Amino acid sequence: MSEGLIRPAVADDVPAMNAIYNEYIVDSHVSFDTEPWTDDERHAWFRRRIDAGFPILVAEVDGKVVGVAWSGPWRDKAAYRGSAETTVVLAPDATGVGIGTRLLDALLEHLGASGFHVAIAIIALPNDPSIAAHRKLGYREVGVLHEIGFKDGSFHDTMIMERQLRS
Ligand SMILES: CC(C)(COP(=O)(O)OP(=O)(O)OC[C@H]1O[C@@H](n2cnc3c(N)ncnc32)[C@H](O)[C@@H]1OP(=O)(O)O)[C@@H](O)C(=O)NCCC(=O)NCCS
Repeated sequence: MSEGLIRPAVADDVPAMNAIYNEYIVDSHVSFDTEPWTDDERHAWFRRRIDAGFPILVAEVDGKVVGVAWSGPWRDKAAYRGSAETTVVLAPDATGVGIGTRLLDALLEHLGASGFHVAIAIIALPNDPSIAAHRKLGYREVGVLHEIGFKDGSFHDTMIMERQLRS
């Protein structure tokens, strides 16, 4: 797979982004959602995130969206306004060739440029590739929340990782 292009997402990317993320909702513990989203729901979500100033980027290879990295609010109290939660997911056949790291790195650049102060990732365990990608970009392991999610008949832990930004 070629290196591809990383760029800000536009509304036309929403169905592809939604299809990629829905696969992880349905087939894995990676997402703690339990039901896939409709494209309409994801469109409304996309508009809210963009209007609130949270960067969302996609990776495109040969004209096709193969991955997405998005940011969103960490918590809704005002003092958290400089903090953003980050998420990155790739289509399964796009993993393992560096696209996820590049996508997340670009998202961190955008967050820094937008004035955010801290990025936080919540990683459902186990997920060694995700932990490795986040570590590589300077995220630090804060700790593990034990049995915090219940999906597909079992409890799952999450790791919290944080990354300071420039501003
Ligand atoms: C997690 C994910 C975004 C990482 O992106 P990626 O493009 O596959 O990862 P990269 O190719 O950039 O590799 C990142 C690092 O992880 C390492 N890595 C890959 N697989 C690994 C594994 N099974 N165990 C440990 N490290 C691993 C790589 O070696 C690489 O480090 P290196 O460049 O120093 O060798 C991607 O694999 C993905 O979308 N996975 C499924 C969805 C998911 O889990 N998303 C994260 C939700 S928190």
